[in-house]
Formats: sequence, structure tokens, C-alpha cells
Amino acid sequence: MTKLSDRDAEALFGNRFLTEAAPATSFPDSGMRPTDAMRLVDEDLNLEGDPQRNLATFVTTWMEPEAQRIIAENLHRNFIDHAEYPISAEIEQRCVRMLADLFNAPGATTGCRTQGSSEAIMLGALSLKWKWKERREAAKRSTDRPNLVFGGDVHVVWEKFCRYFDVEPRIVPLEKGKYTIGPEDVEPQLDENTIGVAAVLGTTFTGHKDDIVGINQLLVDAKSERGLDIPLHVDGASGAFVWPFLYPDSAWDFRLEQVRSINVSGHKYGLVYPGIGWLIFREESDLAEDLVFYENYLGKTDATFTLNFSTGAAMVLAQYYNFVRLGREGYTYVMRQMQQNADALAANLRETGRFEVIDDGTEQLPLVAFRLAGGHASYDESDVAWQLSAERGWMVPAYTLPPNAQEVKIMRALVKETMSREQVERLTRDLLDACATLDHKGGVAHVERQQTKVGTGY
Ligand SMILES: Cc1ncc(COP(=O)(O)O)c(C=O)c1O
Repeated sequence: MTKLSDRDAEALFGNRFLTEAAPATSFPDSGMRPTDAMRLVDEDLNLEGDPQRNLATFVTTWMEPEAQRIIAENLHRNFIDHAEYPISAEIEQRCVRMLADLFNAPGATTGCRTQGSSEAIMLGALSLKWKWKERREAAKRSTDRPNLVFGGDVHVVWEKFCRYFDVEPRIVPLEKGKYTIGPEDVEPQLDENTIGVAAVLGTTFTGHKDDIVGINQLLVDAKSERGLDIPLHVDGASGAFVWPFLYPDSAWDFRLEQVRSINVSGHKYGLVYPGIGWLIFREESDLAEDLVFYENYLGKTDATFTLNFSTGAAMVLAQYYNFVRLGREGYTYVMRQMQQNADALAANLRETGRFEVIDDGTEQLPLVAFRLAGGHASYDESDVAWQLSAERGWMVPAYTLPPNAQEVKIMRALVKETMSREQVERLTRDLLDACATLDHKGGVAHVERQQTKVGTGY
């Protein structure tokens, strides 16, 4: 019998990377068999967190097999090639019209798909800046000191916009026990250089909404009494797919006069895999015409309003699949089921006596924000998050709130479509077990830690 060389044995029975380190620094000189490459990547990923136990991020971790098939069959379709793929472009516009309808736009309007809410916010805020500039130039006033007003409860993207696009951020700080903002906070910040106010529908931190009705009224009054026409942008990254179904009578959208644009992430409660987001304007005129580029690059004149160019069409198609598959009825069912399980988890946590749930009884995303009741001398929420992850693999983040509520540390569990009642019960037991371990061994709470391993999970 001829003896196989090591290389041949490896090819026949295993793969190179069982005994070799993964290529990680220089560009590889030579390639490898597809199976080796696949196993290399798969084995690396085996050590990554399990998305089904990820209660940290808002982003969708499960879609139906039929939706997965649409995605898989369209991965090769570049969305921006409108001339070549006009049907995908038309499907995007169908989604825009459906969302405008869902958000109660008064008539025909415009909008676009984006990579997520971050791109939608950058584009929406750019439009605020350009429209403000147009108004100022028409009035022959200076345009060198734009400012944007928002609360400390916003996502980091709002500050990013201000830094990238040279706008002064006017940030209303939070306070202990007050984690959203209202008109009384916004009013002192407004002046003739305010390009807009951003309000959040479903904050990243506790899932509550800013007082959008109150802020809208403030802006309506500022328009009639002071001649300041300041638009309101609603950051509905999570909430704009929750409120229309759970709280249909609560006005936060284009039913309110000063709400001129809304962003929403399709890949959060729109129930699509990442990355898909949407930006919807109240009226066509709310999009600054100067920001639209007309190109003749691919054989047909095409209007684009995007920060990037090439991107996949698959998630647009998957979003449309969800809209027609679920409709209002289906989305309402999914949102209610998540909320019922969130309520069950909140009730369980309260019952343990160990946790305090951050819930003022007002409208909220389907999540549970909580903290250790009365604090604990030898460990804190970061220790609980860490222990829970070590013992059971759950990813539940612990984090401090933004200024001036930074001494408040909370945990937050997102209750997604795939979280069954059995999992709610198990998570409750696992949290208690983690606390029991910490009662025994203590934590490292006295060591200053900014965040747990799993972060805040945007
Ligand atoms: C309120 C809010 N705005 C914006 C974003 C950014 O969204 P995306 O991840 O879709 O870019 C998030 C993400 O969690 C968010 O919660």
C-alpha cells in the first residue's frame, strides 16, 4: 500500500486548517479548494454568538423559508442598475407608497430605500439642512450657523450627522427618571438657524417615544406666532413598524402638521434581514431638489438620492414580500405576540423581586428594560449580563444611559418574533441562576466598565 502524503491525506479526510492557522495578514499567494474555504469560514463562525440568543440587537434574525428563497435567488441583482432591473426599482416605489400610506401621508409623496436608518437619517437631515438654506437664502439671511435640536435619547447617528455635515448639535440632556424629551425641553433651543428637530419613536435605550405630539404643537405655534417654520423629523428606526400596528390611534406621523420626514429600518421591526431602511417624506417638496442627482450612467436617465451607489436588491424584494405576505393584519399579529411575551417577561422579572422594570405604562417597543432592584453591593447589571452570557449564551446587554442620567445602568431584552413563551420562562430562570451565582461569588462591579462584551446592541 502506498502511503498518502500529508497533503493528500488532508484533502481526502479533512482540511488544511485543522492543523494550519487561518490566513489573516498578507494576501494569500495561492488559493484552496472550495470545501476548504467554506470550512475555514464556517469553523471561524462557530465561535460567534448565536443570533437566536441575541436579545441585544433590534435587527431581524429570522425570516420565513419563502423569503429566504427570494433573497438567495436575487443576491446577484444590483439595486442601483435601474435601467437593467426596472422591476426592482418599481418594487422599491411600491414599498415607498405603502409606507407613506401606513404613515398617513396626506397625498402623493416621495422616498427611497436606504442601507438602514443611519443612511436614511443622513439623507433626511441633509434635506433639512438644504431646505433651511433655501429659506434663508430667499430671505437674504446668513447660512453659516445651522443647528439641529434633539434629545440625549437619540441614536449616535444624529451626532455623527452633525459632525460629518457641519451642523451644531443642540442636545437636550436626559435626567434620572426622565429618558425622553418633550416640548418644554425643545423650546429653549429653537432659533432662526434651527434646521429641524429630531424626535425618536421607540428609543434605543428604553423603547419609549419622545412627546412627538407636544413637540409638533410647539412647532406649529412657533410657525404661527414667531414665523419660524421648523420641520420635525421622526426617527422611527424601530417604532415606525410598531406604532401603526400596536397603537394605531396614537398620532406621531404625518397626521401631525410639522412632521415632514420619517425614517424606519426594514431590518428591525420591518422583519427583514439587514440591511434595509426607508426614508419617507410628507410631500415631494420636502425633499430638497438640489440633493437629487440625475445620471445617465447605465443607459437611461435616472434620479438618485443615496449616499452609496451599488447595493443588493434582495432586501428590497424581501421587504415587499413581507408587506404583501403579512399586510396590516399579519404585522399586527406579530407585534402583539411580541408585546404579550414582553409583558410576560416583565411580569416574571417583577415577581422575582430582584429586578425593577423600567416601564411607566406608556407606549413602548416590545422589549423589557430593567435593572437590579435597589442595587446590589457586590455586583451590578454588567455582572449579571456577563454571567448570563457565560452560563447560558444569552446576549442581553447592560449599559449606562446618556448624560445626565449616566449613573443609571440598565439591562435590555428585546423580545423578538422567535421568542416563545417557553424561552421567556427559561430566560427568567437563567437570570435568577446568574444572580444566585453572583450572590455566591460576587461580581467585578467595582471595576469601572463602560459596557459589557455584547455592547448596547443597536
Ligand atoms: C432610534 C434609532 N435610530 C437609528 C438607528 C440606526 O439604525 P440602523 O442600524 O438601521 O442604521 C437605530 C439603531 O438601533 C435606532 O435605534
